Amino acid sequence: MAEFMGDLRRSSMCGTLRISDVGKEVTVMGWTQRRRNLGSLVFVDLRDRTGLVQVVFDDTTDEKVFEKAQNIRSEYVLAVKGKVRERESKTNKIATGEIEILADELKILSEADTTPFEILDESNVNETLRLKYRYLDLRRPSLQKNLFLRNEITKAARKFFDEHDFVEVETPMLGRSTPEGARDYLVPSRVHEGCFYALPQSPQLYKQLLMIAGFDRYYQITKCFRDEDLRANRQPEFTQIDVEMSFVEEVEDVMYPIEGLIKNVFKSAIGLDLGEGHFRTMTYREAMENYGSDKPDTRFGLKIVNCSDLFKNSEFKVFADALKIEIGPIRGSVRAINAKGLAYKFSRKELDATVEYAKTLGAKGLCWMTWAKGGEIKSSFAKFLTAEDIENIKARMGFEEGDVLFFAADKDYVVFNTLGGIRLMIADKHGLIDKDVYDILWVTEFPMFEWSEEENRYMAVHHPFTAPMNEDLELCETDPSKARAKAYDLVINGQESGGGSIRIHSRDIQKKMFNILGFSEEDIEKKFGFFVDAFNYGAPPHGGLAFGLDRLTMLLSKDDSIRDVIAFPKVQTASCLMSSAPAPVEQKQLDELYIEVKKD
Ligand code: AMO
Ligand code: AMP
Repeated sequence: MAEFMGDLRRSSMCGTLRISDVGKEVTVMGWTQRRRNLGSLVFVDLRDRTGLVQVVFDDTTDEKVFEKAQNIRSEYVLAVKGKVRERESKTNKIATGEIEILADELKILSEADTTPFEILDESNVNETLRLKYRYLDLRRPSLQKNLFLRNEITKAARKFFDEHDFVEVETPMLGRSTPEGARDYLVPSRVHEGCFYALPQSPQLYKQLLMIAGFDRYYQITKCFRDEDLRANRQPEFTQIDVEMSFVEEVEDVMYPIEGLIKNVFKSAIGLDLGEGHFRTMTYREAMENYGSDKPDTRFGLKIVNCSDLFKNSEFKVFADALKIEIGPIRGSVRAINAKGLAYKFSRKELDATVEYAKTLGAKGLCWMTWAKGGEIKSSFAKFLTAEDIENIKARMGFEEGDVLFFAADKDYVVFNTLGGIRLMIADKHGLIDKDVYDILWVTEFPMFEWSEEENRYMAVHHPFTAPMNEDLELCETDPSKARAKAYDLVINGQESGGGSIRIHSRDIQKKMFNILGFSEEDIEKKFGFFVDAFNYGAPPHGGLAFGLDRLTMLLSKDDSIRDVIAFPKVQTASCLMSSAPAPVEQKQLDELYIEVKKD
C-alpha cells in the first residue's frame, strides 16, 4: 500500500552523499534500483536523478520497518530516513560508494509492476519498446544526462544572449507557410472554411519583421516543424536557437559574435575551451571539390581530386560521356579519391560492395584501381587504360603501392555526392576518424541559386531573402549559377549544426531575386506580400542564423541518434510510439473543420 510522506521531508539527494556526510541524519526519496534480501540484512539501491545510494536495513532496524523493507520490489518509490555511515565494502563504481544509509524509517510512496525492461544503461533493449515506455526509458542515467546537457546548452545560450543585449521574442506557431523549402504541417481553421495555418518551418519571416520593427537583436529557442523524410539527424519537430541582428552587413558581423555563443556553450556544457581566435572558414567550392560535401568532415583526409583533364581523350565511354555533359549550368567531371595504404582491406568482394554502395548514393557505377603491396596494379577499367594514363594517374593521385583509388564520372553534383559518401563510409569503416576531437568550421560563399533539372529553373539555395555577395550582384542576372551568397553554415564534425545569411534589405534587389527565381508579381503578393510590403517602411541591414539545438546536443553528447537527446521523439514514420500520435479523430471534429477524409 502506498503511504503519504507524512512528516518525512527530503533533506538530501541520493547521489550527492559523501564520506563527509557520515553521522548525518538524512531523508532521501527515489526509485528502487535493486533490492537484495540476505535474511537478516536487506539492501536497497535507491535512485534519483543525481544517482544511487545504498540503504541498509539490519537487526537494529525496527521490526515493522524491516518487514516492509522485505517487500520492496524494483522501481517502488520510497522515502527513507536514516543515518549516513561509512560502508564496509567500499566501491568506486558509484559516486556514493564510500557510504550507505542505515535506515530507521521507511515509507513506500508508490508500488510498481514489473517494468517491461530493466532501468539500466547497459541493458540491450530494442528501441521500439524503449520508445513505447519512454517515461521508463527516461529514467536511465544516460538519457537523463543528455537532457541535463541540453539544459546546460540552452542555459549557456540564454546567458550569452542576455550579456549581449539580445531580446527573446516569441513568434506564432499558427502562421502562414514559410519559405524553408520542406513540406508544411498544416492546421485546419474551424472559423475559416477551407483555410489552413502552417506550423512554422522556422521563424524566418517573423524575425526579419522584428528587425524592421526595431528590436535590433533577437533570439528565440523555439520549435520548428518540417514534414520531410526523417533520417538519423532529423525530426519532424525540432528546436532552433534562432538569432537575428540589425545593422550587420558582412558575414563576419554575424559569424564572429556567434563564435562567442558556441565557445560559451562548449565551455559551460562540456567544459571544453575552444581557445582564442576565429573558427576556420572554408568556401563552399573548396568544401565540395575536396570533400564532396557542403558539410565536410575534415577530421581525416581522403580528399577528392579532379582527374577530368586526364581523360579528355579517353576511349572509356563512361568517362568520355561524363565529360561532355552540359545541362543548363551543370557540367560533368571525372574525380577520384585515394584510400592510402588501404588496398589490403579491399578484396574483390569489398570492391564490389563499394561499387554497390556508390549506386545507393546516386552513381551509375564506380571504377577502382588497386595496387596491393608487392603486387601489381589492377583495375576495373584496365582495358581502356594506356601506360601513359597510369603514369598520369600515379602523379595526380599520389598513387603508390598499397593504395586503392575510386573514380566517379558523372554530373559534378553526382560525383561529389558519390565520392563524398564513399569517403565517409571508408573513414567510418576503417577507423580513420578521431572521435575525441571537435572539428569546427564555417562554410561560406554558398551559391545563391541552384539549377533545378526537374523544374528547369533556378531555385534559392538558402531562401529567397538571402543577400548576394557585393561583388556578385551583377552575376545574379548575367550568370546566376556563379553568384555567391552572403550565407554561412557552422559545420561540426561533418554535420551542419547551424546556418544563416545576411538578408536583402533593399526592395530593388529583392525584386530582382524574385525575378531570377521566376516568381510572378502575383506569386509574391500571394506568398509573402505582407512581408515584402514591410520593406517599404524602412528596413535596417540585417542578418542572422539558426542552430539546431537537437543536433548541437547530439554533437556534444556524442550520440549517433537525435532521438537520444529529445525527451519524447518521433520515429522514422513521424509517429510517437508512446502516445500513438498521429491518430484518427472524431467525425464531429472533422465536420467542424469542414474536412472529409478520402479513403482509398
Ligand atoms: P536551416 O533550414 O538551415 O535554416 O535550419 C537551421 C538549423 O536547424 C537544424 N535543422 C534540423 N534539426 C533537426 N531536424 C530537422 N528536421 C532539422 N532541419 C533543420 C539544423 C540547421 O542547421 N531560417 C533559417 C536560418 C536563418 O537563415 O537564420 C533556417 O531555418 O541544425
Ligand atoms: P558499364 O558501362 O555500365 O558496364 O560500366 C563499366 C564500368 O564502369 C563498371 O565497372 C562500372 O561500375 C563503372 N562505371 C559505370 N558508370 C560509372 C560512373 N558514372 N562513374 C564511374 N564508374 C562508372
